[in-house]
Amino acid sequence: MLAWEQGYKIGQWEMDAEHLILFSLLNQLDININADLAEECVHDVLAALDAYIDYHFAHEEALMKAWGYPGLDQHSALHHQFMNEVGRLREAVKTGDTVRAALKVRGFVLEWLLNHIMETDAEYARFIAEKSKKSSA
Ligand SMILES: [Fe+2]
Ligand SMILES: [Fe+2]
Repeated sequence: MLAWEQGYKIGQWEMDAEHLILFSLLNQLDININADLAEECVHDVLAALDAYIDYHFAHEEALMKAWGYPGLDQHSALHHQFMNEVGRLREAVKTGDTVRAALKVRGFVLEWLLNHIMETDAEYARFIAEKSKKSSA
């Protein structure tokens, strides 16, 4: 079971809440990987994870745009690269050994997400925090 830690918070509450949901979906993926009917179960949760990642990225990019964040293009490019890689790994889930392939997806998403949240997402959060401090001063 993955535990969400306070240190993963970037200080933008909506985005923190969405990151927490992504974590919950990864936990659900773990549960489904270990279920008796793992083969059938993992597809649904992977589809949900995919859809939620899509939603979160769009929401995050809209937030960065609204604040005039200068690193938006670079950040979006990282999101796209990640989605492409997840798409590639998901192909293997459909065609190969489902459980093994799903574990690969899980490992890749977890590692990427943690690094991305703590480094790349934290950067726009700092920018927004600074900008809102200035505008309210
Ligand atoms: Fe994010
Ligand atoms: Fe991001």
